Amino acid sequence: MNRFLAVLLLLALPIMAGCGQKPAETTPAEPAATPAVDTAAAPAAQLLEKSLYDEGPRAAEGAVDAAMAAAGEKLFATKGCIACHTYGKKMTGPDLKGVTHRRTALWLEHQIMHPEVMTKTDPIAHALMAESNNVQMLNLHLTQPEARSLIEYFKKLDRAK
Ligand code: HEC
Repeated sequence: MNRFLAVLLLLALPIMAGCGQKPAETTPAEPAATPAVDTAAAPAAQLLEKSLYDEGPRAAEGAVDAAMAAAGEKLFATKGCIACHTYGKKMTGPDLKGVTHRRTALWLEHQIMHPEVMTKTDPIAHALMAESNNVQMLNLHLTQPEARSLIEYFKKLDRAK
């Protein structure tokens, strides 16, 4: 390509020189063959065979942060989670009792913050949705600290004997 441009320039020089005082017309900057434009959109969300977030200890194994758990208790009621979830009974969403023994903290964080991505890509969330009459959990746009507070609250409930 560089050689092609060099040749083009060599050919254009005498023409430009012959133009006298007229400003030289710019030679076409377009290379002869423009590289193919990558129009492919981001790959569609794919259901993975294995969860990316299910490795390691279950959430309940870590110590409970009491202040975060208290904040989480309030968030659970004020952010709308109680419309679909409770502890000890399945409603529209799964029964959350024991959820921190079933899942890792990372998995829970992703489920709370990006439920619509999780049901499409994460096999555990995908199966849960199938078990929930295909109801998609709402993305309530929680921040990461909010999600983590909720997880502390669930841990506290699961560890209380
Ligand atoms: C519209 C009903 C609805 C709301 C509101 C909702 N969820 Fe869910 N939730 C579901 C459903 C249904 C699932 C199962 C996955 C799916 O179908 O999206 C689920 C799954 C979960 C799970 C995984 C449960 C398990 O057994 O692993 C957690 C944790 C959870 N939700 C927490 C929350 C929290 C925290 C909130 C509030 C910020 C919330 N959900 C709001 C319906 C809801």
